[in-house]
Amino acid sequence: MKVYYFSGSGHTAAVAAYAARRLSCEAAAILPDMPEQSERTALVAFPVYCEDVPPVVKQFLYKLRAERIALLAVYGGISFGNSLQRAYKCTNAALIAAAAVASGHTFLQEDAAFDPASLEPFFACLAAPVPIRLPACRAHPLARLFPGLRSRMGVKILRTDACTACKTCNAACPQRAMHCGKPDAKCIRCMKCVHACPDKALAFAPRPVLVRWLRKHRRGDTVVFLPQKT
Ligand SMILES: Cc1cc2nc3c(=O)[nH]c(=O)nc-3n(C[C@H](O)[C@H](O)[C@H](O)COP(=O)(O)O)c2cc1C
Repeated sequence: MKVYYFSGSGHTAAVAAYAARRLSCEAAAILPDMPEQSERTALVAFPVYCEDVPPVVKQFLYKLRAERIALLAVYGGISFGNSLQRAYKCTNAALIAAAAVASGHTFLQEDAAFDPASLEPFFACLAAPVPIRLPACRAHPLARLFPGLRSRMGVKILRTDACTACKTCNAACPQRAMHCGKPDAKCIRCMKCVHACPDKALAFAPRPVLVRWLRKHRRGDTVVFLPQKT
């Protein structure tokens, strides 16, 4: 068993680290262009971006060779739509555990905070693995409407004079969209660059209207999908 994760602003990394400790196994970060990974059982943790799975995680899942998979979608307490279903579509492995974990929201600059106790039923599924079926979940009608463009319009990335053009942000970007603090149109605003900058030269500024909307729509519960009883 191994835990794989991608994390833009550290929330999913915190959940993945907890899961690895709880399961006494290794955690590995998902990187762009990662070679094919083979594991009997893989736990894949990903952040929910616009009710979807980050492209770097989809690419990883397509290449992953695993018999069984467990999925953890970490979301900002607004909605996870059908992101778990979309992640599961990218793999041939049998799904044995799935949960959507409420954590802080990147754009609200919140700390990574989730309730570990709420994940116990998820770990119980891993201990006694049987295939589970995800129920149909609805995505918001606007979720697939130019998500990257909406994120870019809602959040600015700011570069200060502290930038030394060290290119750490270029290497950290899962979209290969960053050029020494300047994002191009492939940027999805995951904020990996901002958190990776060794000189704290990058920051981000969500539009006030977006911040107000996010604060108003927080729901924030963790949902574990359990096997149906026969
Ligand atoms: C580009 C972007 C889109 C997001 N879309 C959603 C969303 O649709 N629903 C939601 O509840 N949270 C959303 N969030 C919040 C993240 O899911 C949440 O902050 C998560 O904890 C981020 O994990 P990370 O720090 O590992 O990247 C979004 C965050 C970003 C950066």
